Amino acid sequence: MSKQKRQEAWNACMGVSWDSLDEEIPSSSIGGTIPKSLRGGRLLSNGPGWTKIGGRTAHPFDGHGYIRSFFFDEKGSCHLRGRFVETPSYKRERAAGTLVVRGLATNPSAQFWKNIKAGGEPRHVANTTIVRWKDKLLAGWEGGAPYALDAATLATQGEEHFGGALAGQATLAHLRHDAAADRLVACSPKMGRHTGFTFREINAEGKAVVERTAQLSGMVFAHDFAITPNWYILGGNPLRLKVGEFLKSYMGFSTLFQAIATDASQGGALYLISRLRDGEVKKVDLPQGAWVIHFGNAFERGEEVIVDACAFQRFDFGGEFGYTGPDTSFDPTLPDQREPQRLYRLSLPLDGRPARCEQYTAYGIDFPRFHPDHEGRETPALYGATRSDTRHSDPFDSVIRVDLCDPERPAALWSAPEDVFVGEPIFVPDVQGDGAQGHVLVLASWGLARKSELLIFDALRLGAGPVATIPLPLLPIAFHGAWDPPKTDGRK
Ligand SMILES: [Fe+2]
Repeated sequence: MSKQKRQEAWNACMGVSWDSLDEEIPSSSIGGTIPKSLRGGRLLSNGPGWTKIGGRTAHPFDGHGYIRSFFFDEKGSCHLRGRFVETPSYKRERAAGTLVVRGLATNPSAQFWKNIKAGGEPRHVANTTIVRWKDKLLAGWEGGAPYALDAATLATQGEEHFGGALAGQATLAHLRHDAAADRLVACSPKMGRHTGFTFREINAEGKAVVERTAQLSGMVFAHDFAITPNWYILGGNPLRLKVGEFLKSYMGFSTLFQAIATDASQGGALYLISRLRDGEVKKVDLPQGAWVIHFGNAFERGEEVIVDACAFQRFDFGGEFGYTGPDTSFDPTLPDQREPQRLYRLSLPLDGRPARCEQYTAYGIDFPRFHPDHEGRETPALYGATRSDTRHSDPFDSVIRVDLCDPERPAALWSAPEDVFVGEPIFVPDVQGDGAQGHVLVLASWGLARKSELLIFDALRLGAGPVATIPLPLLPIAFHGAWDPPKTDGRK
């Protein structure tokens, strides 16, 4: 495909926007059959659903969160519902029809004085993750507390503070669920010359029952973390502040995002922070550079903590999702200019022996997912979004399954047709299975044809292609999703 066609396809996906969506896709128009085990449940996804705002293009990180629910009824039909997360930033910009609130990576105006005038109101767009927690859905985002949504209607309820524990606190976009303890784990960063991270564990009644804070040396970037029964795990990800750019950002000429850079002078490392004791932190140096955006699973084996992570050997900010600026098109070839992130198994001895780092598969992988109940203990497989061309990663065109018990076994792969992009694959285990059986749900975006598809695969036969293909209108690219198993709360 020509570069121009690819650019057109990608821009269609990144720029499409809907208001509320309510559509039934009858079983008669679905290719194949929605597996019976999935009926009564739904796929949830979140991502920036409004990026072209009043003639300017917001960085995808600053686009307004758009929640999608794909509910599978007992007759084998699918019900699509789409709703924006109605944060104050969303309401202001919807009323104005233009960018009003400064974002991490987007200014409302090309004129610096207008950006200063916009003030310091924090932009909260709740656009990154979506998790079911008891009777609510939580939309997570960096830069604020998660937003609670009505689980049945997707109506916005407001910031979720869990009885005040998160009041005034931002959290990392990712939340983790310790299924064995039935606790939701949230991590709040406090940036400065040094970086504080406070982990809170929320019990089934919505109370924070554990709170641990760690002070890490220097500025540390985190978007995600992992957990084991005894540890929280963070990437070392050292940041440096570009003072000149920071001043330019303060003066409205540029953004905060342009003022941070990775600190390439430091090697790769992970932090282990005790879940059991206050202040116990271990920094484990890695044998190579590792910039971790997303973690897969982690678990403990003897005197080692084993961590699966998608890491860049070196990373530079800029050009995410092909973003080139507020007045120009997305360029999907931009991410090709850097080395892709790879999946690594990182073995971290607790007795001071050196850490080991083993690459799993030649493919560039991101959006790692695994059995949702295996958080913190060994799991048989990892699913991710990847690229059929192993030299590159995003935009992704393939789904991969990596056998974590037998990494020598060639990874199973399914690739979309040319010009079609795929998102994060969500693994849904069979309730009766041994943890390996189940299905994988993936959204595919056909930018040129202006359509999307929800694809359902047999998890153990990815290469055989989807067992169900659900036709959809072209939906905005999503960041992350979750499976919401069958329940009886009347949702659709
Ligand atoms: Fe993420």
